[in-house]
Amino acid sequence: MNTASDTIDLESAYSAVSDTYKGKGDIHAACRLARERSSIFIGDFIRQFAVPTNAGMQQGSRPTFALFRHKDVMAVLRDAEAYTSGFIAEGLGAFFGGLIVLAMDGEQHRQVRALLQPAFMPETVNKWRGQIDAVIRKDFLEPMAGDKKADLMAFGLAFPIREMYALMGFPTDDPQAYRRYAGWALAMVGGNQVDPAKADEARRNAGIAVKALYDAIMEVVVRRRAEGSLGDDLIGRLLRAEHQGRMLDDHEVTTFVRSLLPAAGETTTRTFSSVMTLLLTTPGLQDRVRADRGLVPKLIDEAVRFEPVATFKVRETAREVEFHGVTIPKGAFVQCMVVAANRDEDVFENPDVFDIDRKPRPSFGFGFGPHMCIGQFVAKLELGCAVNAILDLLPGLRLDPDMPPPVIEGAQLRGAAHIHVLWD
Ligand code: HEM
Repeated sequence: MNTASDTIDLESAYSAVSDTYKGKGDIHAACRLARERSSIFIGDFIRQFAVPTNAGMQQGSRPTFALFRHKDVMAVLRDAEAYTSGFIAEGLGAFFGGLIVLAMDGEQHRQVRALLQPAFMPETVNKWRGQIDAVIRKDFLEPMAGDKKADLMAFGLAFPIREMYALMGFPTDDPQAYRRYAGWALAMVGGNQVDPAKADEARRNAGIAVKALYDAIMEVVVRRRAEGSLGDDLIGRLLRAEHQGRMLDDHEVTTFVRSLLPAAGETTTRTFSSVMTLLLTTPGLQDRVRADRGLVPKLIDEAVRFEPVATFKVRETAREVEFHGVTIPKGAFVQCMVVAANRDEDVFENPDVFDIDRKPRPSFGFGFGPHMCIGQFVAKLELGCAVNAILDLLPGLRLDPDMPPPVIEGAQLRGAAHIHVLWD
């Protein structure tokens, strides 16, 4: 990866994050095997996959347990008093600094969610549908429609960034700047390494990216404040918002926005890759969805259940708890295996089958409880617009028989790296 802060390359930053979080082994098979033995794993279950967790360098430093059952994962994620996230500030968050919503607990988290939530509710988000749809069609798919072949992931990497940064309130006159910001956001995530051979360089890159992104966002924040802090976008709302009885200062708004960026772009890219892979590889599915677009939301929901991007979530116990006769002490790490809970046969019939007609039940691809993804309606809207536009503009879409088929892989972050397609 290029380390010069203003020339960081988005594609290589994305591949570097994919490599780091891909790890080793088949996580679905490992979860199935572990669960056949017991509903709880005593020890660091994640360790075998050689991927970093949100705990960063603290991973492995204290008693650790893993849970696989739907009801157990739900119980942990919904109870943010007993299972806290503050440790993330010293783990993954150590690379960010400032206000990090993912790493907040209790009253502080409640206040921050209340402040952010209105910008992300369906009634606000749905107003963006026309704008999102127009960008996807005019800026991306129409220009490539004549090519008759592509790696769909070039589009998949670019469009969520283009959409998200505009919705957050960055100026729209320099889309190239978004790619730069997104490259830095990915370099921040890539700073969290388990491989000591890569750790130093990755941390150095993360440090450069953190600073570069700070400066770029601060410039926008200062300008927006000088212009009167207007606008319904996220930066506008944050500039006008009260937090703990006072307005946020420029530093807080900047670090806040910076902490959102890694959550907003590549998660949508990876989910897009799984949605499209499953659409193109499940016999008969594309024809059905093409004919009945009402199935698009079901396609997305089932893909998020079947192949969640983030395969697990870690929490710390704030008090002693018990699962399946095992006492978990205060201060332990609990690894919630989302990827296993989403395929728990007590809740999902034939859980290893991708079936968009299944009865809707909560699954955890967007998390659950107080920290549940705040951007889920944006992500679903973007994904829905993308699938519909692809079906409209790329007739006869099919996998390219001369190229390797897409493979959904990764122990921590799942997705397909390439989707080579042809159309008529
Ligand atoms: C398909 C795309 C996405 C997926 C799969 C996804 C997944 C998740 C998950 C699993 C969590 C829960 C984290 C936890 O419990 O510790 C989360 C939280 C979060 N997501 Fe997303 N996300 C996506 C898109 C977005 C977008 C577009 C945004 C827009 C800003 C966003 C912003 C956030 C934020 C701020 C949080 C932290 C919420 C909190 O801690 O209260 N995400 N996301």
